Amino acid sequence: MNFSIFTPENTQEVINVFTTVFSASEGEEEGRSIGNLVSNLITKTDPDDLIGFVAVDKGSILGAIFFSRLTVPSGQVAYILSPVAIATEVQGTGIGQRLINYGLAYLKSQDVSLVFTYGDPRYYSKTGFQQISEKVVQAPFPLSQPIGWLAQSLDGEPIKAMSGSSQCVEALSDPGYW
Ligand SMILES: CC(C)(COP(=O)(O)OP(=O)(O)OC[C@H]1O[C@@H](n2cnc3c(N)ncnc32)[C@H](O)[C@@H]1OP(=O)(O)O)[C@@H](O)C(=O)NCCC(=O)NCCS
Repeated sequence: MNFSIFTPENTQEVINVFTTVFSASEGEEEGRSIGNLVSNLITKTDPDDLIGFVAVDKGSILGAIFFSRLTVPSGQVAYILSPVAIATEVQGTGIGQRLINYGLAYLKSQDVSLVFTYGDPRYYSKTGFQQISEKVVQAPFPLSQPIGWLAQSLDGEPIKAMSGSSQCVEALSDPGYW
């Protein structure tokens, strides 16, 4: 298994991975919706505000992940992990955690201070994410499941409370995702 940075020539294969994986786990409609989300992320986001990574085995993409810029009131450099998918047939073999850690190490090397995500704390706590109160850092939209608002610091400094709102990229700016 090789991990590398997403490049535009990966676009169609990566959209297919997300669509297929989420169709299998959440149903076809969700598969299409996540495929569209990923397509929007790739085509509508300023390249400075998006970074993706792929896990490749024998020439096939078996996993992919995106981090996009989250503008936070403190002015710290921050990204949000969303979404991530690992091919159904190889789920549960550690690739997801390796891919997340690969992405986090890269972001750290680029002096990113904070990384957020919105998901299952039981899973994301395996790669250093912890629950964070919306009183510490507001999410860009009202959260239907505040328990899933997660963050970690990459610069060794504790996350300090910030006042003001945060802003995600256009592709994630749909209240339905939150
Ligand atoms: C969620 C996902 C990315 C995890 O990647 P993975 O490679 O399958 O997971 P790993 O092998 O790295 O980790 C497996 C561990 O995480 C746990 N885990 C996996 N998916 C989980 C989930 N959705 N919720 C809670 N725990 C989960 C497993 O129980 C296992 O725990 P263990 O190590 O204590 O046995 C992958 O299963 C996937 O693509 N699922 C469908 C799409 C999805 O839900 N994406 C995340 C939301 S954007």
